[in-house]
Amino acid sequence: MYNYKTYKEEDVEFVSVASEDEVGNGERILLEIDGQAIALFNFAGEFFAIADVCSHDDGPVAEGELDAFEIICPRHGAHFDVRTGKALTLPAVVDIPAYPVRVEDGEVLIGLPVGG
Ligand code: FES
Repeated sequence: MYNYKTYKEEDVEFVSVASEDEVGNGERILLEIDGQAIALFNFAGEFFAIADVCSHDDGPVAEGELDAFEIICPRHGAHFDVRTGKALTLPAVVDIPAYPVRVEDGEVLIGLPVGG
């Protein structure tokens, strides 16, 4: 069901998901887009988006605590890099999807894979 990969700009279509103001510095919002759970993070004006589904056991990874750019899955404690989706610690061994993000005219756009 989930394709654990980092999407490249040429493989996605950008859709507006929020205004810049909706995600304050250091905050995150949880989105559901076309049935996919995605978390959008703001690190000092830089935005990152990852799937909110842990590759270990489908936990709600984006609800975990942040340690710099690492998100810690609340289920079993795997760490992932929010910027890339890379799995950094056990028990996760597979990366989670990370989506390209753009900001245009105050709107945050996430690149979603074309065709779902
Ligand atoms: S579900 Fe995330 S570490 Fe197990």
